[in-house]
Amino acid sequence: MVNTKISRRDFHKSTVLGAASLAMSAGPMVRNVVGANDRISIGLIGAGGMGQGDLRDMLRTGQVDCLAVADPYVPNRDTAIMLTNGAAKGYNDFRELLDRKDIDAVIIATPDHWHAIPMIMACQAGKDVYVEKPLSHTLVEGRHMVQAAEKYNRVVQVGTQQRSGAHFQKVVELVRGGSIGKVTLAETWIHGNEYPVGLECQPDTQAPPWFDYNLWLGPAPDRPYKQVRTLRTFRWFWDYSGGILTDWGTHLLDIVNWAMGVEAPRTISAMGGKYVLDDCRETPDTLDVTYEYPASPVSGKDFLVRFSNRVANSHGPDGHGYGIQFYGTDGTLFVDRDGYTLWPEATRVGPDRVANHNVIHGEGSSQHYPHVVNFLDCVRSRQKPHSDVATMHRSTSVGLLGDISYKLGRKLTWDAEREQFPDDAEANKLLTKEYRKPWGLI
Ligand SMILES: NC(=O)c1ccc[n+]([C@@H]2O[C@H](COP(=O)([O-])OP(=O)(O)OC[C@H]3O[C@@H](n4cnc5c(N)ncnc54)[C@H](O)[C@@H]3O)[C@@H](O)[C@H]2O)c1
Repeated sequence: MVNTKISRRDFHKSTVLGAASLAMSAGPMVRNVVGANDRISIGLIGAGGMGQGDLRDMLRTGQVDCLAVADPYVPNRDTAIMLTNGAAKGYNDFRELLDRKDIDAVIIATPDHWHAIPMIMACQAGKDVYVEKPLSHTLVEGRHMVQAAEKYNRVVQVGTQQRSGAHFQKVVELVRGGSIGKVTLAETWIHGNEYPVGLECQPDTQAPPWFDYNLWLGPAPDRPYKQVRTLRTFRWFWDYSGGILTDWGTHLLDIVNWAMGVEAPRTISAMGGKYVLDDCRETPDTLDVTYEYPASPVSGKDFLVRFSNRVANSHGPDGHGYGIQFYGTDGTLFVDRDGYTLWPEATRVGPDRVANHNVIHGEGSSQHYPHVVNFLDCVRSRQKPHSDVATMHRSTSVGLLGDISYKLGRKLTWDAEREQFPDDAEANKLLTKEYRKPWGLI
């Protein structure tokens, strides 16, 4: 293994500022480079549901040794350590994990408000990164993350694992190859029904002694502890997440961007509200977003993209609870994690249209395990992984833009090249957020 040293001054000059008293402590920073046959030493930051899932598949490859697990919630940290048969050392504070020179790569599976800071710090510390989706909590964070990966020459895979599924790759081929003609609309949706209970409204209380709630909050505003705002259900609160539009929406909208060969919408129009669920969540129970996209290189035409989420009715198009459906001049193509179906349009024969019953079905394929394997391959080869950080910044941005339109209650125009809403100071303000000191992006 070859280590290239970068100076401590360089490290401190760059992007992230942690608590001065807890700043990265030991020696000079290193950039790790893994040889073709080396085992890869990893650390896990954020050991909840997805962190454990990511770790399981990493271990299953037989190519990694997990040396460390950082999580401010002790039960999750301990469970992840058990998955390593006790081999990993536990940390409360991820900065101590990043200080270790023997770790080549990290998994970051923290809540969304805690993706950018450890990811950028990991890049600065010379580690490659597997960071969960959505890439970031704000658009500005996402851009900083792209820059950090480039500056420190790091391999970064984002956890949009559908990109590694063979049947999703096939669907992209079908759309790009013109199998359904010119696509005028792509619909995405995720629906469920939590009515009437929803999320329990709990009184403020004290966090248990096995939970460092202050570190869990990190850059988020200080608030009294309520369990429901933290583990797993954080995604229904704006301080920690973009709601379901960035949670599931990133997975779904990413496939549309990919298949259509586009990066960003031209306009965004979101509507919805908390109409029937009288619970403690902040995000809407009903949401509809319509995006106007500029011409796709696939069709040469503009097209629309829709995202819809319902939390109080579970029915979706053709009975699917979630999915992606492309509507083209020659056919309709549905895909979810279990497979795809292509229904051709009726064939034009002279002045008539004749029904075409040649429906094509494709089986689902494994996604998460090949995604992890692709990351490890790229750590060795230094190639771009399937869900590289720059592309996933764009895919994550689609959901984040929808959230901004929803919060402002109006249609927005987006300049993707400048990453700005032209002449719209109110909307541009929402491209970033306040960070609770001492955390922040600088
Ligand atoms: N790729 C996928 O399909 C997929 C599926 C589920 C979740 N996710 C993503 O994974 C992330 C985590 O989601 P989850 O459902 O596992 O949430 P979770 O609440 O179960 O787990 C998050 C863990 O991060 C820990 N954490 C918080 N702050 C931390 C810090 N500063 N340092 C270290 N650990 C910290 C929490 O204590 C918790 O154990 C989210 O961004 C989510 O969007 C991805």
